[in-house]
Amino acid sequence: MTDELTFPSPAAPPAPDRPGTGWWREAVIYQIYVRSFGDGDGDGIGDLPGARARLPYVKELGADAVWLTPFYASPQADGGYDVADHRAVDPLFGTLDDAQAFLDTAHELGLRVIVDIVPNHTSDQHPWFRDPDLARARYVFRPGRGTHGELPPNDWESVFGGPAWTRTERGDWYLHLFAPEQPDLDWDRPEVHDEFDAILRFWLDRGVDGFRIDVAHGMVKAAGLPDVGRRQQARLIGTDVLPFFDQDGVHEIHRRWRRLLDAYSRDHRPGTLPAERIAVAEAWAPDARRLARYVRPDELHQAFNFHFLQAEWDAAALRAVIDDSLAATALVGAPTTWVLSNHDVVRHTTRLGSRDRARAATLLMLALPGSAYLYQGEELGLPEVTEIPDAVRQDPAFFRGDGQDGFRDGCRVPLPWSGTAAPYGFGSGGSWLPQPASWAELSVEAQTGDPAATLEMYRSALAWRRALPGLGDGRMTWLDAPDGVLALRRHGFLCVLNTRTRPVEVTAEGELLLASAPLRAADGRVCLPGESCAWWASRIPTGKVAVHDRAPG
Ligand code: BGC
Repeated sequence: MTDELTFPSPAAPPAPDRPGTGWWREAVIYQIYVRSFGDGDGDGIGDLPGARARLPYVKELGADAVWLTPFYASPQADGGYDVADHRAVDPLFGTLDDAQAFLDTAHELGLRVIVDIVPNHTSDQHPWFRDPDLARARYVFRPGRGTHGELPPNDWESVFGGPAWTRTERGDWYLHLFAPEQPDLDWDRPEVHDEFDAILRFWLDRGVDGFRIDVAHGMVKAAGLPDVGRRQQARLIGTDVLPFFDQDGVHEIHRRWRRLLDAYSRDHRPGTLPAERIAVAEAWAPDARRLARYVRPDELHQAFNFHFLQAEWDAAALRAVIDDSLAATALVGAPTTWVLSNHDVVRHTTRLGSRDRARAATLLMLALPGSAYLYQGEELGLPEVTEIPDAVRQDPAFFRGDGQDGFRDGCRVPLPWSGTAAPYGFGSGGSWLPQPASWAELSVEAQTGDPAATLEMYRSALAWRRALPGLGDGRMTWLDAPDGVLALRRHGFLCVLNTRTRPVEVTAEGELLLASAPLRAADGRVCLPGESCAWWASRIPTGKVAVHDRAPG
């Protein structure tokens, strides 16, 4: 006789806002891709007023902070990562007043706000680049190779495919590690440093709580700009040290920004949210130890842990990457971050192969020590959209071809909020990328209140994360488990992930809280289905869990 199990709700009221110092060490930070979150003016493109109107949803989901992708003045050659003016809001997304209103509403709700800063490059429409003489003083220009300078200065390739150099009418070449519309700034120039100090201050003065530093491993290039000597360089990012990424010199820039942030953090006004201002590095480094250099005590606070995101659906691989990440950040005294999806990668429901796996991976991630980043729509279990007509695609990687998959549009399709037909409450004027018909059943409205829905699983997980002091920052211990299974203990908490397709039986000293799949219990043992994850609260801090292969039949 087996009984299907139901789960309790967190009895404790949500914990009060986390104390000021170190709030980010265990924060759950929800990424808002502004163009695709909520459309306030009905032009089919998400904007700041549309995002602001949906902030209560983010609060109720249980996040501590939001990260806004770039909303600055931009020709939109790369979804706003080609910034023409960091101090102005693009009319597509609203006005400076709308940005201020977004910040104020978020703070009233107790949500902190992190904004994106793009220091490696600007738009080619930035005033500095439009002036040919100023451009040569502040960007990376070089003469070409070959008899008439007709060949690029070196063999560097753009991350989006093709050469990283474009020749100008004057005959010299400029560097762009991304699209040609994104020329690389020359960080040997003091004016560039001063300008970014001023940009950070501009937004700190408006009350932002931190910055996501785009391409934080870029900016500084190896002296002499040496050839890489290999092709398909985009595939080497995250595994090799390249002359244009992860150079030692970038750390001086991060130290300077940390001093600036610390000065603002000390200036905390009573009655406002604790004001520790932070920065998170989007840094691709060859291994966890090199990545940890970005979060040394005098550098940035956090770095995205892309090694976890890249791990296969394999218990041993996941355990290795978790151990490695924790060990590397422990060396510098920083917390680890965890992330499974963002606006640049295939959504994890699709990448891992199924929604079951994605739900299980999420529960594992949220059980780990440190801070977690969620990407809008993952809480709905949205899959990658692969059927996007070429005519509406926007991703510059798609158009530059050369082995790029062009799949970044597939994770950027506007969210389904309600109703049975597109644009599913996204706005009143359609959506800039088509939403699949199957998304009606994945909308926020359709999932709300359904205990089996992915949205409700995220809501419960985040509520437990707030209610249980043992989750978030702190330590963890692995427990014995059969191959294909991971069992871990935190203070008063147990988590078991079964990556196999066959069920396992679990006996745990504690109260079952939550699972990514329906569970059954018999004779005190819980049957954990294949490709699922479950959480227990244990009143015994050192609570045990025993995991066994399930007897056949
Ligand atoms: C952003 C991308 C962007 C690139 C160039 C990043 O890593 O996340 O979306 O295309 O930087 O700015």
